[in-house]
Amino acid sequence: MSYPYQIQNREAYEEAYQKSIEHPEKFWGEIAEHFKWEKKWDKVLDWNFSEPKVEWFKGGKLNITENCLDRWAETYPDRNAILWEPNDPAEKIRRFTYKELLDEVCLFSHVLNRNGVKKGDRVCIYMPMVPELAIAVLACARVGAIHSVVFGGFSAQSIADRINDASCNIVITSDGAYRGNKTIPLKSIIDEALLSCDSVQKTIVLTRTGEAVSMLSGRDVWWDDEMKSVRDEGLSHYKPEVMDAEDMLFILYTSGSTGKPKGVVHTCAGYMVWTNYTFVNVFQYKPDQIHFCTADIGWITGHSYILYGPLSAGATSLMFEGIPTWPDAGRFWEIVEKHKVNILYTAPTAIRSLMGFGTEPIIGKDLSSIQVLGSVGEPINAEAWHWYDEHIGKKQAPIVDTWWQTETGGIMISNLAGVTDAKPVFATKPLPGIQPVLVDENGKVIEGNNVSGNLCIKFPWPGMLRTTFGDHERCRLTYFSTYQNLYFTGDGCMRDNDGDYRITGRVDDVLNVSGHRIGTAEVENAINMHTGVVESAVVGYPHDIKGQGIYAFVILSSVHNDEAHMKKDIMQTVSKLIGPIAKPDKIQIVSGLPKTRSGKIMRRILRKVAEGELSNMGDTTTLLDPTVVESIIMGRIP
Ligand code: WTA
Repeated sequence: MSYPYQIQNREAYEEAYQKSIEHPEKFWGEIAEHFKWEKKWDKVLDWNFSEPKVEWFKGGKLNITENCLDRWAETYPDRNAILWEPNDPAEKIRRFTYKELLDEVCLFSHVLNRNGVKKGDRVCIYMPMVPELAIAVLACARVGAIHSVVFGGFSAQSIADRINDASCNIVITSDGAYRGNKTIPLKSIIDEALLSCDSVQKTIVLTRTGEAVSMLSGRDVWWDDEMKSVRDEGLSHYKPEVMDAEDMLFILYTSGSTGKPKGVVHTCAGYMVWTNYTFVNVFQYKPDQIHFCTADIGWITGHSYILYGPLSAGATSLMFEGIPTWPDAGRFWEIVEKHKVNILYTAPTAIRSLMGFGTEPIIGKDLSSIQVLGSVGEPINAEAWHWYDEHIGKKQAPIVDTWWQTETGGIMISNLAGVTDAKPVFATKPLPGIQPVLVDENGKVIEGNNVSGNLCIKFPWPGMLRTTFGDHERCRLTYFSTYQNLYFTGDGCMRDNDGDYRITGRVDDVLNVSGHRIGTAEVENAINMHTGVVESAVVGYPHDIKGQGIYAFVILSSVHNDEAHMKKDIMQTVSKLIGPIAKPDKIQIVSGLPKTRSGKIMRRILRKVAEGELSNMGDTTTLLDPTVVESIIMGRIP
């Protein structure tokens, strides 16, 4: 098996890139030929960014799971599709060949079908990182339902918001989840969420931890019972639902600079082609290699590079339930040794946290199987890049620094492992099909090299978002209205003298905490829900491990003698409303916030305070009350 569209050398990259720009329809049409279609497309691309309307392979008919499962189960039935490493290293690993995975997905498709799930229905999935999560996701795709996976670290309130936004009619969950030495009661969190979700008629509950859970008659059913009864009835193969190329495949909620998270929508064909193409090319995947992406399937990285990208390429994908530091900081390296991992794809925050333990946890671990290393989720700092290169890749494995977003579906800017040059802290070059432009604040395109600006993309690519669920106008306003005829990423970027790109971080009010996107407005809304809070402002500050930490300035309604207790209550409120991942690292109680005469909070000043850059506060003359700045500086939390 080989991938005819795998780029083999630098010249081939340049050639592919050139062709993708000059003849995009021909370029993508040829690549799409390598997939399994019920019916080929009528037109490769139709688009305008003003509505926006983006349609790839329109008129084509397919089911993504035939491409991810059936075609490999036919040709390579015994190849491993998923290897699973449990949270507790003492527990047995599990393996699924392509044939076995297909069988399980078919059975669970029957279960979904029997429980009333139809094409186009929305299914919320809130599960631990176990193989059944992959099975649930793929079964949704097989029956044509739209999955909305919610990360296990979100609270009941956040889940309820997501379920209601998409009017999901079914939830798939488990009794609990293991995470290091903790267990998380997923089912009872779902029970709490469902108190405010009228649309949900069924929940399917997998047994993972075995703890006691409440099961509502008529609503809640057990995964194992359902699977057993379809087996007992002799059901096996499930005929995949025929989908239009542009039918929705999934919704994934992500934070923006305003209000509530939005449901980013990806569609069947374009997303499949894009995740496959980027997987094969960026990681330079070779058959039989073991690919280990450490992300959670609750995030886009897990969707694209644990599931759809690798599986559509017939690869072997390793899925890990636990965390990098439990039972000790050698866990990743032990997994690499045990499974002979060839490609390791992780986040800078994980690298930085493991760096903190020194090289002791690595000593004695055989990492010689590693051939490619990847980084994703946030800008990687030079120190982490070199540590990764030296201690994990032993200077033998190329590092791919992959820049992309939930909205882009797959990798956009990255070197191709061993094919194009890596450059520390640079994502380097755009993938074929990607036309990045830098613009200044007024939307003027900045030409030439050695320049910085806001990163936009000027031409559609197959994996891009199509809409935000239930609110197309929000999609237009968020991504396509800041600059005319451009997709705006929200990131700042520089292009150096070699034409290589370096992403410098968000330029909007979105934080990137341990690789998780969190909107400042979302955190502020949650803090303001606390009864004792009048107003708050949240900004990010540099954090050694998390990349960014969350700093909250809070005005209370009355003077409190026990501020420490008050802060704990605020933390608890945020945790309840969003989830533990959004808890502020620092809370400073203030008597006022720096506001302009028109009432706008000057975040620039708060950012400087949080960062500890106190020498030059910039122009404060437009402030309503310049003295508040003094007192905020005095009370700064170091
Ligand atoms: C940031 C994760 C620098 C960026 C796939 C982007 C990065 C946001 C990189 C998207 C990288 C992701 N270098 N920054 N290699 N990769 N980012 O939607 O700010 O969770 O806009 O998708 O992460 O985060 P998201």
